[in-house]
Amino acid sequence: MAILVAGGAGYIGSHVCKKLSQQGFQLIVYDNLCRGYRDFARWGDFIPGDVGDPVQLELVFSKYKIEAAMHFCAFIEVGESVIEPEKYYQNNLRNTIYLLEAMRRHNVNKFIFSSTAAVYGMPEKMPIEEDDRKIQINPYGRTKWMIEQILEDYSAAYGLKTIRFRYFNAAGADPDKEIGEAHVPETHLIPLILDAAAGKRESIKVFGTDYETKDGTAVRDYVHVFDLAEAHILGLKYLLDGGATNYFNLGIGDGFSVREMIQVVKKVTGKDFKVIETERRAGDPPYLIAKSDKVSKTLGWKPKYSLEEIIRTAWNWHQKLQGLSLK
Ligand SMILES: NC(=O)c1ccc[n+]([C@@H]2O[C@H](COP(=O)([O-])OP(=O)(O)OC[C@H]3O[C@@H](n4cnc5c(N)ncnc54)[C@H](O)[C@@H]3O)[C@@H](O)[C@H]2O)c1
Repeated sequence: MAILVAGGAGYIGSHVCKKLSQQGFQLIVYDNLCRGYRDFARWGDFIPGDVGDPVQLELVFSKYKIEAAMHFCAFIEVGESVIEPEKYYQNNLRNTIYLLEAMRRHNVNKFIFSSTAAVYGMPEKMPIEEDDRKIQINPYGRTKWMIEQILEDYSAAYGLKTIRFRYFNAAGADPDKEIGEAHVPETHLIPLILDAAAGKRESIKVFGTDYETKDGTAVRDYVHVFDLAEAHILGLKYLLDGGATNYFNLGIGDGFSVREMIQVVKKVTGKDFKVIETERRAGDPPYLIAKSDKVSKTLGWKPKYSLEEIIRTAWNWHQKLQGLSLK
């Protein structure tokens, strides 16, 4: 019996694969490498393929005895989703339905889905609880919320057992530096600050210093990618043990401001760099912090990595990445 990891050559998926393999699971990485790397698909069998390709999916589901699927494939840039929504509806929404169809044809009824804090849009209160209001403010968030609703319907009608994990800000890297974050283009805060620390960019921009937060800059909840991976292992075991469909926030329940992040990066790297303070960006909420009690109580999840460890592992990987030409 094997676990299908769609999108397992990407940032979060590859870290989950490493953990799965360490725990003795047999896995198949299915990825079209549009955003991922063959070099990241180091564990299990690698099958190149698109989740929007029913023929290739059919081959994989026929060849392997698949017990459960994890689905990390998506386009993930919020700004791009506003400019090119079709791309997002096709890949994040339509292609996910193809994957669910293949699973149904082959009676695979356990599914773990990568959702996001973006399903909440502009939250009314902090920290955010799973059943709080959800009014997405961009197509990326809408594609993820639509899939979440589809999964509820499929669970009710077809007996599909699913877990939807709503990640807050995934960050950090494998301490062994085998894999890490390498998004192109990079839009996430920590790698951008690290670029400034490494002299790869002249400065780092802080968007908005007049929010009603502790120091006026936006506050986010950062969770180490291996802590996310651990939650997936717990979620998988829960489904394999017969657990019912469920959904969870994945964040540490604490927030750090942009200014705090810059200070920690300066401390951990020992580098100074230019910081430019500028206007707010449209659609950036002041706070995004998860209430994660539900996942702790239900799955026993306890994030282990501190912010300094997140930055240190990200920095060590970032330095290694400079000398690599990833394929
Ligand atoms: N990175 C974050 O902070 C974050 C936060 C919230 C949610 N998420 C979600 O987590 C998931 C993984 O994010 P990530 O940061 O690892 O992204 P990523 O881009 O590094 O990984 C996505 C992987 O999916 C593959 N892929 C995309 N479309 C595909 C398709 N049609 N067929 C086959 N493979 C395809 C890509 O090649 C890549 O390897 C995404 O669904 C994203 O929306 C990420």
